[in-house]
Amino acid sequence: MGVLDLKTTKALQNTASIYERVKSVIPPMEWTAFAEDIDAINQLKQQKNAIILAHNYQTPEIFHGVADIQGDSLALAREAVNAKADVILMAGVHFMAETAKLLNPKAKVIIPDTKAGCSLAESITADDVKLLRKTYPGVPIVTYVNTSAAVKAESDICCTSGNAKKVVESLGVPEVIMLPDEYLAQNVAKETSVKIIAWKGHCEVHERFTANDIELFRKQNPGVIVLAHPECPPEVVEAADFAGSTAHMIDWVGEHKPKRVVLLTECSMSDNVAASNPATEFVRPCQLCPHMKRITLGNIRHALETMTHEVSIPAEVADRARRAVERMLAVK
Ligand code: 13P
Ligand code: SF4
Repeated sequence: MGVLDLKTTKALQNTASIYERVKSVIPPMEWTAFAEDIDAINQLKQQKNAIILAHNYQTPEIFHGVADIQGDSLALAREAVNAKADVILMAGVHFMAETAKLLNPKAKVIIPDTKAGCSLAESITADDVKLLRKTYPGVPIVTYVNTSAAVKAESDICCTSGNAKKVVESLGVPEVIMLPDEYLAQNVAKETSVKIIAWKGHCEVHERFTANDIELFRKQNPGVIVLAHPECPPEVVEAADFAGSTAHMIDWVGEHKPKRVVLLTECSMSDNVAASNPATEFVRPCQLCPHMKRITLGNIRHALETMTHEVSIPAEVADRARRAVERMLAVK
């Protein structure tokens, strides 16, 4: 390595304690390249009274380096309600930033890249939901948070992968419509007596996993424990040892401390969980979410410097969408 300039040396000193937490998953050379942005972001947060909420799929330098709160979609929504900061930066995808804005309308909510979308959110429009309501009069509509605010506004209640079954059963009805993730709906349907009418949306990351993949992982990695996200096809969830939201998977690893594990979900999560579970070996099929990966240290820094891109939702849509999200948060 050549001689480091003064700025980098200072940034490395300031971020040394953070690096201790991630040194098993980020080589020193890479940290040298990240340190200046991490240091600058952590100072900008103080100057602007900003906090960073980061989804579990963010890369480790973001997840461990600059995030104030990390979690699955449900945890990030709950944390947004209580956030006291003037500014909330969402290190995640657009629907997550919209949900934060719905729940904390006074805060300025910014997202570093407005193109950070989601194949599920793209799969359905507000007009589709209106049509479904006409087709199935009186059947409640449960909408996954992975949707636009406009779609949420046409729904009765939201759910996440962490509470879908509870939300469906909280309604006390024999039948619900569940949008837009077909596989999540089918996976929940297997666990409840409530009849579920599904939409045909899929997550472009989780739909790629197959039951054959699991067979191969087990053959090539004796004793491996397989955890799957419920956005995976039902045959994958069935062949796995455990299925749950990203937070439930993280908790499972922490509690059971498996020797070897494979997480059938977005692959940055394995890095994040590996950093806090050094005794577990992670088998790593890498399925990246291109939308989550639009968020980088560089654009987080730029977003905080320029206070862009601000998320706003028309009041008439926001009021109705907020009702659906708040109704979900009230389900115990
Ligand atoms: P959870 O973190 O809520 O399980 O969601 C996974 C996901 O794909 C979010 O985009
Ligand atoms: Fe959407 Fe799937 Fe990416 Fe999550 S992982 S943001 S559900 S495309």
